Amino acid sequence: MERLAVIGSGYVGLVTAACLADKGFHVVCADKNPEIVKKINSAVAPIHEKGLDDVLRRTVENGRLRAVESPREAAQGAEIVFIAVGTPFDGNEIDLSQMKSACADIAPWLAGAKNRPVVVVKSTVVPTTAELVVVPLLEKLSAKKAGVDFGVCSNPEFLREGNAVADFNNPDRIVVGGLDSWAVEKVRKIYAWSDAPVVAVNPRTAEMIKYASNSLLATLISFTNEIANISYAAGGIDVKEVTAGLHLDFRLNPSVDGRRLNPNILTYIEAGCGFGGSCFPKDVSSLVSFAKSLDAPAGLLEKVMEINVKQPLRVLELVKGSIGALAGKKTAVLGLAFKPDTSDTRESPSIPLVRGLLGEGAEVIAYDPLVGDEFNKIEGCGALKHANGWRDAVRGASAAVLMTRWDEFKEITEEELARLMSKPVLVDARRFFDKKKFARITYAGIGYRPASNNR
Ligand SMILES: NC(=O)c1ccc[n+]([C@@H]2O[C@H](COP(=O)([O-])OP(=O)(O)OC[C@H]3O[C@@H](n4cnc5c(N)ncnc54)[C@H](O)[C@@H]3O)[C@@H](O)[C@H]2O)c1
Repeated sequence: MERLAVIGSGYVGLVTAACLADKGFHVVCADKNPEIVKKINSAVAPIHEKGLDDVLRRTVENGRLRAVESPREAAQGAEIVFIAVGTPFDGNEIDLSQMKSACADIAPWLAGAKNRPVVVVKSTVVPTTAELVVVPLLEKLSAKKAGVDFGVCSNPEFLREGNAVADFNNPDRIVVGGLDSWAVEKVRKIYAWSDAPVVAVNPRTAEMIKYASNSLLATLISFTNEIANISYAAGGIDVKEVTAGLHLDFRLNPSVDGRRLNPNILTYIEAGCGFGGSCFPKDVSSLVSFAKSLDAPAGLLEKVMEINVKQPLRVLELVKGSIGALAGKKTAVLGLAFKPDTSDTRESPSIPLVRGLLGEGAEVIAYDPLVGDEFNKIEGCGALKHANGWRDAVRGASAAVLMTRWDEFKEITEEELARLMSKPVLVDARRFFDKKKFARITYAGIGYRPASNNR
């Protein structure tokens, strides 16, 4: 089995390293953060991901996975080196500083490598990055020639946070972009355990496939939120009934043997408070800025972002519309993570909501099963208080705002809210609840307003 290295051991890097070690490869992963390295070597997952602890325990114990701080050390003796460092959006364009520093870190190894290794860009990067940034940098710093002494491939990752281990082990597609068929073949072999279709293309096409995938899903979310906001403005239209109607379109939801497949894509056609996380916002923004750098129009994607930025503020308006001025009023926020089954709060819609509530003088108390005090470090969120459970959060509150679809919030009932809150108000930012079951308290949801007489 080949010796592999993974540079950057965050969500993507660590899951890639651990799962490939579990398939039998010998993997050394690197991370600049010594805490992460220490945890991995103690077989403790530094992030919350279903099943990751088990995979780490197995692979660290059997010696197939270990972590180091130095990328150069990780790469030593490797045949394939995956780069999975962060690629944030700096407000204007994609920030490739981690990618460039990872290339610089491994260049001395590449300079001495005799086995024609392949460097694989797994991070999400704008089209042409592998060809115009990674290759020239590695060639300059190692004095070796791409295509001759080493290969460079783009192999974007499509795993979903919260389901990352299962997604890695059961990929829907394997995209490999390369200029040299021998390098593509080497990367393809790493995935021989999977029967997923392999999309072998050039590097910039591989990079674009990743952006197009995330942009499509983000577009569906903003599209649905726009329909929700129009429904709200009209009054008497519940967007949940609208999306239920959309979900029955055979083209979206085929019928097999008389039963609907209800594919996961339908979850992107649901109204809510917008998308967050470490991928969609930065990837759509990076693609827009890439398009601008080419003078290519990207107006649709600009609107996708604009709708998304405004959506959490609509939740704030719903709260104010339900309880009036916020000053001094206790407001419960249920859910801080950007989606359930993760502790990740990057770009979470709960951030602008909490900021807005605190900014207008509300006393804000939150409950999230996995997110605690670390949320208070986010700018404008320092005064947030935390409760031990949802009941604790809503007790005595003027409004309860559902922001994350955590499973445990399914137990919330009208009766309990009536018992715990003096004038119960439920603001459903994800259309998580059946509004009919909250008919005796004040229920306000994205994409629904009772009909008024002027229409
Ligand atoms: N998170 C996801 O669900 C997901 C899914 C698909 C693709 N991606 C993409 O994968 C990439 C990584 O995302 P992530 O969420 O894992 O990021 P992350 O921030 O969780 O992890 C990146 C890690 O790289 C480390 N690092 C940075 N520079 C380094 C260097 N020179 N040497 C060693 N370590 C270094 C950081 O310390 C950090 O731990 C991004 O491009 C992202 O867009 C993410």
